Amino acid sequence: MENIEILFDEVKINERVKVLAKELYEKYGEDEVVFICTLKGAVFFACDLLKNYKGDARMEFLRVSSYHGTETTGKIELNLSISKENIQGKHVVIIEDIVDTGHTLAFLNEYISDMQPATLEICTLLDKKIKRVVDIDPTYSGFVVDDLFVIGYGLDYDQKYRNLPYIGVLKKTKKISK
Ligand code: IMP
Ligand code: MG
Repeated sequence: MENIEILFDEVKINERVKVLAKELYEKYGEDEVVFICTLKGAVFFACDLLKNYKGDARMEFLRVSSYHGTETTGKIELNLSISKENIQGKHVVIIEDIVDTGHTLAFLNEYISDMQPATLEICTLLDKKIKRVVDIDPTYSGFVVDDLFVIGYGLDYDQKYRNLPYIGVLKKTKKISK
């Protein structure tokens, strides 16, 4: 396997996830919350976050895709939808793996807002703030990352590396010229 530099190890992720779960519980208390996990990238984060969440939670799943290799395309495809009755009048939190340009989040925000939730917040594990082109900010964010292509803990590079228990960066290997 290629050389991977660890950015956030399991311990660090776990600590941060617990804090986020606590902050969310402080906000919603015993009110029911619909958490929407965006597949596939946010699945590890969503599971860990909700295992630590002490309130009344429901889980929904959306599947969106926008990325090919390491380049964002700006074109969002919705591959799995949610019915309005599961959202209307409810407190909703979108769980994302990473916010990069913001195109995906803007799309999701509009898609869910149209279903008239009582409230809508965004919780992302990673925020690549420096890459933002759309004016949208997550309410809750685990870690801010630089302009690096990160993998692991759900995040992939062409569908690989999702199963790593930590978040890391692929180190560039030197090409040997003959
Ligand atoms: P955005 O629409 O540019 O904000 O892209 C968001 C989506 O692109 C995320 O939900 C990820 O699926 C993917 N993505 C963005 N940056 C990375 C990265 O560094 N590693 C893996 N996936 C990424
Ligand atoms: Mg994603």
